[in-house]
Amino acid sequence: MVDAEIRQDRFRDKVVVVTGAAGGIGAATARRFAAEGATLVLVDLPAAAEKRDAVMRACTTDGAVGVLGLDCDVSRDDDVAAAMKAAMARFGHVDVVVNVAGYMAFKPIQDFSGDEWRRLMDVNFMGAVYFTQEALRMMRPGGAIVNVSSIHAFQTTARVAPYAAAKAALTSLTRSTAIEGKALGIRANAVAPGAIDTPMFWTSPNIASGEEKVPDNMLGQPENIAAVVAFLASSDAAFMTGSTVTADGGRLSAL
Ligand SMILES: NC(=O)c1ccc[n+]([C@@H]2O[C@H](COP(=O)([O-])OP(=O)(O)OC[C@H]3O[C@@H](n4cnc5c(N)ncnc54)[C@H](O)[C@@H]3O)[C@@H](O)[C@H]2O)c1
Repeated sequence: MVDAEIRQDRFRDKVVVVTGAAGGIGAATARRFAAEGATLVLVDLPAAAEKRDAVMRACTTDGAVGVLGLDCDVSRDDDVAAAMKAAMARFGHVDVVVNVAGYMAFKPIQDFSGDEWRRLMDVNFMGAVYFTQEALRMMRPGGAIVNVSSIHAFQTTARVAPYAAAKAALTSLTRSTAIEGKALGIRANAVAPGAIDTPMFWTSPNIASGEEKVPDNMLGQPENIAAVVAFLASSDAAFMTGSTVTADGGRLSAL
């Protein structure tokens, strides 16, 4: 855990949808919103249901007013529409959508099949597109969308081209959503994490082989990203929209 200044009522009466909620950053994000008094809708794949259930229990202990867990493959527009409909049916409104779900795959550009390219784009990018569409259709003025991008949107390594392209597209989507959301009173921002201490990081072959090196003091915790997400979703960031905020312990700033 990292030190955090929790404001127990910052998200009181707010319904917050978090995708990829069973994973490292998703779970920390859900728990941060729970500790700040939100009502939560936790979305993940059916295969992650057990982990998501554990996150749901933790959120209730942390202070969530209500918690709904939903199976949803974010790459399917019908799944996403059903999830947002279920959230509305249960709680009557959705105020924040946090697009966290994602995965990496490692191959030279020419070795990814078309299906593999499409799957990586579908999960890492189109999932956020579908949730953004639903959010723009149903959120009230004051709503906020937060996309979890990556420093791979700006600088990258070998063998992750589809992931890096999807994250770069997410930065562009965040700008477009900010423009079109303005008239609706809906803000959209993104956070671009650097290396974060989750299984996704440790299972990277580029890390395991030592090709990509991350100094200890540039390895963040999921709670570091959750804090930025909560800020971007809150009225403290009322004058921010269209931004992608880097949270990488200074990694991209170093020569
Ligand atoms: N860990 C890092 O170093 C790091 C750095 C930069 C960005 N990120 C981004 O942060 C996000 C979360 O990463 P993490 O480290 O917590 O990884 P993680 O693997 O712990 O969590 C990802 C979650 O997304 C879910 N998911 C995957 N495909 C899905 C789908 N089709 N539909 C619904 N849910 C799906 C998984 O089941 C999992 O629970 C990802 O978007 C990732 O790209 C992570």
